[in-house]
Amino acid sequence: MTTWIVWFSVVLSLACRYSASIEDSSDTSGDSTVETGDSNGEPTFSGDVHPMLWESCGGCHLPAFAVMALTGDPAEDYDIIMPYVDVVNPMASLLLTKATGVQHEKIWEVGGNEFETTIAWIENGAVNN
Ligand code: HEC
Repeated sequence: MTTWIVWFSVVLSLACRYSASIEDSSDTSGDSTVETGDSNGEPTFSGDVHPMLWESCGGCHLPAFAVMALTGDPAEDYDIIMPYVDVVNPMASLLLTKATGVQHEKIWEVGGNEFETTIAWIENGAVNN
């Protein structure tokens, strides 16, 4: 009897996790309400770059963090990250060098999606869009 209860709860919890993961994946890939890219298809700060920064960096760079303390609000975070953006020489932006592991934890791959999106946004002038 006890064995059955254990089995039943194991199966139930696996089923729950499975359906949760299906919901998760449809959220990220198929959500047509999330607008990314401007009218020319170029990445925007609020729609593309900021969500990646918040997701990848926000875990450490929280409001109480000593440096580059993010808030989660794109309007405020734009001003916070701009000191680390080099529009003249995008590759030299601390935002990217730190993110890819130069004297910092390696979070992003050079050439990865986050890196490419962010550098494209910087090359386009790093505007607050
Ligand atoms: C595991 C925790 C952690 C994560 C995640 C993290 N950072 Fe950092 N970051 C730090 C620490 C600690 C420092 C301070 C020491 C240093 O400069 O490396 C720092 C410093 C920085 C600095 C220099 C700020 C200054 O004023 O000197 C930048 C820029 C930066 N991080 C960007 C990023 C970006 C962009 C991401 C996400 C792609 C990110 N970090 C993710 C821990 C983290």
